[in-house]
Amino acid sequence: MRSSNRADFVVVANRLPVDLERLEDGTERWKHSPGGLVSALEPFLRARRGAWVGWPGVADVDVDPFDDEEMQLYPVRLSADEFAEYYEGFSNATLWPLYHDVVVPPVFDRSWWYTYQRVNRRFAEAAAEVSAEGATVWVQDYQLQLVPAMLRELRPDLRIGFFLHIPFPPVELFMQLPWRTEIVRGLLGADLVGFHRPGGAQNFLWLARRLAGFEPSRGQVGVRNRPGVVQVGDRTVRVGAFPISIASTELDRLARSKEVQQRVKKLRADLGNPRKIMLGVDRLDYTKGIDVRLHAMHELLSEGHIKAEDVTMIQVATPSRERVEHYKQMREDIEREVGRINGLFGRVGHPAVHYLHTSVDKKDLVALYAAADVMVVTPVRDGMNLVCKEYVACRHDLGGALVLSEFAGAAAELTSAFLVNPHNLDGVKDALLAALEIDEAEGRRRMRALRRQVLTHDVDRWARSFLEALGAPSVES
Ligand code: ADP
Ligand code: G6P
Repeated sequence: MRSSNRADFVVVANRLPVDLERLEDGTERWKHSPGGLVSALEPFLRARRGAWVGWPGVADVDVDPFDDEEMQLYPVRLSADEFAEYYEGFSNATLWPLYHDVVVPPVFDRSWWYTYQRVNRRFAEAAAEVSAEGATVWVQDYQLQLVPAMLRELRPDLRIGFFLHIPFPPVELFMQLPWRTEIVRGLLGADLVGFHRPGGAQNFLWLARRLAGFEPSRGQVGVRNRPGVVQVGDRTVRVGAFPISIASTELDRLARSKEVQQRVKKLRADLGNPRKIMLGVDRLDYTKGIDVRLHAMHELLSEGHIKAEDVTMIQVATPSRERVEHYKQMREDIEREVGRINGLFGRVGHPAVHYLHTSVDKKDLVALYAAADVMVVTPVRDGMNLVCKEYVACRHDLGGALVLSEFAGAAAELTSAFLVNPHNLDGVKDALLAALEIDEAEGRRRMRALRRQVLTHDVDRWARSFLEALGAPSVES
């Protein structure tokens, strides 16, 4: 179906919420796109009948605009070279590691930068074409940081918001970027620039002064309130903190359903009814600290603190960015470590670690969360991390325990978790043991506090607080 109406509310993101998949028999189908951005925004936009401009997940294909239930989708074409230089290169081998505390060294390549500019212009042009007069356009994430300024040039009538889904780095690290001023100026094209944490907003305000010569406000940025302000000519740009979240009520409902309860029982039985299940669910990314939890598990087993017949670990890892060098390396390291642990501690029919290199469907995911005694979330840096919030939303039984890295944005909100420094392996081991052995009443107390936070701060609240600060007309469903 072709959509021709211009929209009053437009999301612009690198990916569409659905990915085109080409099967071996030559047929094509659409599947859910990976990652937290889509998980968070899709339910929100679906309920509001907006338009979504994004790449369909495959290079060198032309797809006409189409409607997906309530959403209008506008595909943006990327060539194979642009996929390599804009997506794999500048977005995921330059910006991603730079913004995640240079966990691996970022690559600075001029030709990638030229392609990043060209592709950002294409997204800006697509957004300009789709947006109705005076529309609200919400640009998402690090792949599109030049779009706000480019779009403003094309369409000064629009109200433009930008949200960064990953951490905004310390200024000393950002200053390494050869194109730092262009990025800051690109973002300042928005009316509101949003980050997960006040610290990110504060860093950006400092850079607006240092690199672009503006005079930002000096007060402390709050959470969902007291945004910073930068006067850019006759425009006022607001800079704020809006911690993202999940569709908590929907997950809570799903976790209570009979079908999921049955899947939980079956899952535990399939695993041989172990005393305890530990769970990791991530995109296979080097920022997620999957290696950290495997090393901790290995040492706990070899030191005899836990036994493989009592404690089973499940690690579900969605394939991600598979041609980027550091991702290939990390996958090999993780799979080698899983093999080592199972070789040493597994028995026939009972591996110590169940490792699945795949994404799982929603009901299976919810069943995994509901079955897991200990959820292990140990990123070395993460903008927010939605997985930990999803786990909490699925524990209406007040069972389970969450081990969470201090370096995930979510740690500021989920303070009743077992918070760990993923660089301190002994600390991670202690926290895993404490979570495995937690007394029932204490576990319920912690989970109740976690659920209070997650259920009252859902993705709807996130989106509303951002759009309100942007001054967007109310976007009721
Ligand atoms: P990121 O956006 O960096 O991938 P988040 O934790 O913020 O990290 O979001 C990840 C999203 O992807 C969550 O909604 C989670 O449920 C989903 N997800 C991650 N791994 C899997 C998997 N193996 N199968 C299905 N969904 C997954
Ligand atoms: C993170 C990023 C998103 C991205 C997602 C999946 O959540 O913030 O922008 O879409 O990871 O990564 P991918 O490279 O597959 O789009």
